[in-house]
Amino acid sequence: MTSSASDLEVDGGLLLARLRQLSAIGTDPRGGVTRLAYSAEDVDARDTVADWMAAAGLQVWVDEATNLFGRLPGRDPHAGAVLTGSHLDSVSRAGALDGPAGVIAGLATAQALRDAGAALRHDLVVVAFGNEEGTRGTPGMVGSKAIAGLLTPEDLARPGDGGVTLADRLRGAGGDPERISRAAWSPDRVAAFVEMHIEQGPVLEAEDARIGVVSSITGQVGVTASITGAANHAGTTPMTRRRDAAVAAAHLVLTVESLARDGHVRVATTGILGLVPGARNVIPGEAVLGIDIRDGDVGRMAAALELLGRQATEVAARTGTTIRLTVGPVQSPVATDCRLAGHIVDAAEGLSARWCELTSGAGHDAQVMAALAPVAMVFVPSVNGVSHSPHEDTDPEDLVLGANVLLRALVAADLELP
Ligand code: GLV
Ligand code: MN
Ligand code: MN
Repeated sequence: MTSSASDLEVDGGLLLARLRQLSAIGTDPRGGVTRLAYSAEDVDARDTVADWMAAAGLQVWVDEATNLFGRLPGRDPHAGAVLTGSHLDSVSRAGALDGPAGVIAGLATAQALRDAGAALRHDLVVVAFGNEEGTRGTPGMVGSKAIAGLLTPEDLARPGDGGVTLADRLRGAGGDPERISRAAWSPDRVAAFVEMHIEQGPVLEAEDARIGVVSSITGQVGVTASITGAANHAGTTPMTRRRDAAVAAAHLVLTVESLARDGHVRVATTGILGLVPGARNVIPGEAVLGIDIRDGDVGRMAAALELLGRQATEVAARTGTTIRLTVGPVQSPVATDCRLAGHIVDAAEGLSARWCELTSGAGHDAQVMAALAPVAMVFVPSVNGVSHSPHEDTDPEDLVLGANVLLRALVAADLELP
C-alpha cells in the first residue's frame, strides 16, 4: 500500500450524480421510488451499476442469488476479500438512498483506489445484495443469506404475494434457484464486510453528529396473522351476530402496539392490514396482518411472541373469529467488530467529522454477513430521521463524507486484517 492511499478521496460529484441517476429508475408517480426486488426496475438498476463497475475497471459478475459484485483485485491472492456495499431494491414509495447510498459509496472507494493505482492487499469487492427489503411476501436479505449459505429450500419454495415463490421471483430476475448453493462464500474467503448506510432514524441529527459508528444491529422477527370470521351483509346482520375479521384485526393492531408501549420489546409495528373481500357493505370475513417486532435481545422477542399468542387467543374469543399466527425466521441482533469500528472512528476524526456511536434499529445485510466475517457500519444522518418514505433525505455533503470515511476505514482495515 502506498502511503498516500490513506489520503485518497472519492469523487463526490460522480457519487452524487450516480445516486441521482439511480433515483430515476423506478420513480413512482405516487411519490418517491418504487424498485421492488426482482422487478424490471430492480434489474435495470443492477445493470446500470454493473456498467459503472465495469467502467471503473472492476471485475463484474452476478451470482445465482442476483447479487452483483465488482472486484478490485488485491496484491495478495491468498488474502480473503474485504467486501463493501448495500442493496439497490426498495420498499414501495421509498426514498432514493436506503441501499443505493452504500452501493455507490462502495463503488466510489474502489474507483478512487483504482484511479490512484493503489490496490489493497485484500481484494476489495463492491456488492449490491439482491432483495434486502423482503417485499411482495418474500423474506428479506435474500442475497446476503445466499452468500452466507443461510438460504433454505423452504425459503425458496414458500409462496409470497400472488402465490409466487421466491424461486420464481429469482428466476425472473436472472437468478438460478436450483444452483443457489453456488452463491455461498466460505468464511475464509471473506476478511471483513463494511457497509455505509443512511441512519434512517433521528439519533445523529439529535447528537449533531455527521457520522454514526454502529455498535450493534437490531434483532427482528416478522409475524403473519390470518384472521377468519364470517362475511355477511353490512346492513342486515345485527351487531350481536357478527364475526367481524376487521374488528378482530383492529384489536390485534392495538395488541401489537402495546407489546412495545408496555416495554416488552423496543418497537412493534403492523405494516400490512388486508381485509377480504374489501367492500364497504360487506362485513369482512378474513383479515391478514403483517407484523414486525424488533429488539436487541432474542429472549425478549421470544417472550413477546408468546404474549402475542395469548392475547390473540383472547381477541379471537372476544370477536368470534379464529386467528392463526405464522412466525417467520428470527433475525438475531449482532454486534459489530470493535476494531473495524475503531477504524471508522479514526477516519471520522481524521476528516474532522463529529461522530457518535449508536445502535441500528433497521435491519441490514451486515447482520447476515456477520455469519461469515467481522462486520461494521458507517451511518450518515437522515434529515428529520425519515426513511422508507419519499421524504427520506441526506445532506449531499454528508453522503460524500460518509464515502470518504468508508474509504479511509477500508484502507486502514486492509493493513491489519489477516
Ligand atoms: C430494512 O429496511 C428494515 O426493515 O429494517
Ligand atoms: Mn429499507
Ligand atoms: Mn437498507
